[in-house]
Amino acid sequence: MHSRDLIEQYKTYVQDWRRYFHKHPELSNEEFETTKTLAKELESMGVEVHVDTERGTGLIGIIHGAKSGKAIALRADIDALPVQEHNTFDFKSDVDGKMHACGHDGHMAILLGAAKMLTAMKDRIEGDVYLAFQPAEETGAGAPDFMKFDNWFEKIDAVFGGHVWIDLPAGLISVEEGPRMAASSKITIRVKGKQGHGAQPHQAIDAVVVASAIVMNLQTVVSRNVSALDSLVLTIGNIHSGSEWNVIPGEAQMGGTIRFFDPAQEDHYVESIRRVVEHTALAYGATAELIYEKKVPPTINDAAASELAERVVIDTLGKEKLSKMRKVMPGEDFAWYLQEKPGCFAFIGIQNPEVGANFDHHNNRFTMDDSVLSAASAVYAEYAVQWLKENK
Ligand code: NI
Repeated sequence: MHSRDLIEQYKTYVQDWRRYFHKHPELSNEEFETTKTLAKELESMGVEVHVDTERGTGLIGIIHGAKSGKAIALRADIDALPVQEHNTFDFKSDVDGKMHACGHDGHMAILLGAAKMLTAMKDRIEGDVYLAFQPAEETGAGAPDFMKFDNWFEKIDAVFGGHVWIDLPAGLISVEEGPRMAASSKITIRVKGKQGHGAQPHQAIDAVVVASAIVMNLQTVVSRNVSALDSLVLTIGNIHSGSEWNVIPGEAQMGGTIRFFDPAQEDHYVESIRRVVEHTALAYGATAELIYEKKVPPTINDAAASELAERVVIDTLGKEKLSKMRKVMPGEDFAWYLQEKPGCFAFIGIQNPEVGANFDHHNNRFTMDDSVLSAASAVYAEYAVQWLKENK
């Protein structure tokens, strides 16, 4: 049996699970009920289940093939966001202030569908398929924490995962090689000036003015320190300083992020930012420090894995479903897996204005065309089967 023959059969099954998870969102590292639900459903299929009982969230399911061989992991992230849902459909979030606004409800449903298909095709599986239901993707640290659980990551030879994507029309899938999602880092800037009277600025060092100058000067990092052929985003997302109308504040703090694709350029980016931050402050008689924290590396698809994924999409869904899509600037913690094991991260089209699926990820009206998810399940399942067959 081929997984393409199971797409119709599991369409409602996958859709129903997506809606169930949508209605019951849990935040990062609190996916306790979600984990229990997933474990129960996988056990009902006869899948070997290992729950991370220490943390109570996250689990690995293992499907053993009819023949022995290598092991491949299919991954779904399982956390929701602290967003108040504004959708009105009957499976909207039951929990105030929490919502599956990124689409991880769809990822769980896709992987459950793939599990159903794989258990129906065990005779074709030459090795083991690990179903990795990973917590806390939104923190950026979910993957590195989960990789340590039960040594599962040491036992696998390849990985495959994906993200439902609102900019891609429903039904299309993109699996190109190379960088697909950006590296994401957090920057914090602390400015130290000298507090004073609002009427006597000459006796103070105004941290608000210094912070403002730093924000403006940072705009030249992208435009003047980075090649026009490279991609860097630098965003300052918050500024905090002062509390009174007639006091010049002596301190300011700013938070922001940078996004980029080329890890070899990272030191150059950070040094450019640090130079502008420190020297702009000095020009005003203040001091400033930059605190730089890496969140996730770039998500880079292995060439051989992408080539196989393209064949699998064409073979399972037809040539017209294989789409080309430009890489995107958000980060994804699947990058941590791809740093250590070969694999591919797919974009799964879910855009369909007819069902309201045209609001961006993390928007309070985000939703997806979930009628196409079982086709994605078939691609996940078939990728696992083919990879094991071709990599003995
Ligand atoms: Ni996401």
